[in-house]
Amino acid sequence: MKAIDWDALHNAAVAAMKTAYAPYSKFPVGVAALVDDGRIVSGCNVENASYGLGLCAECGLVSNLIATGGGRLVAISCVDGQGNHLAPCGRCRQLLFEHGGSNALLMTDDGPQTMAAMLPWAFGPDDLDRNER
Ligand code: THU
Repeated sequence: MKAIDWDALHNAAVAAMKTAYAPYSKFPVGVAALVDDGRIVSGCNVENASYGLGLCAECGLVSNLIATGGGRLVAISCVDGQGNHLAPCGRCRQLLFEHGGSNALLMTDDGPQTMAAMLPWAFGPDDLDRNER
């Protein structure tokens, strides 16, 4: 597999962040990911007057992933309003884990980290397969 173009991912995350709808928190977030077929998908947070209904940027990214053909997330860049790396919230780590698995990489201030490191002892699709349903 080709080297990951982290600059391109960062730029896509910043571009997505600029489209965020975050009038309540005033904390725009953008996220972009390289998919295993080479395309880049992205998302931004979309808040709501009913605060608890706000959607994190990663929700948009996953929706974009599935709506444009699916695939596996290989590398992910998430940024705040200043373009700094943002460590996704716990729920969003779970969303990313579902579609990237343990080996997907997430850029942090300490360099790329695996999803296994970002979400240790993760619950995922394999756990469901272990039970008879
Ligand atoms: N947010 C995200 O979009 N992703 C994260 O991983 C962390 C938090 C959003 C939710 C809310 O709109 C704003 O950031 C402040 O929490």
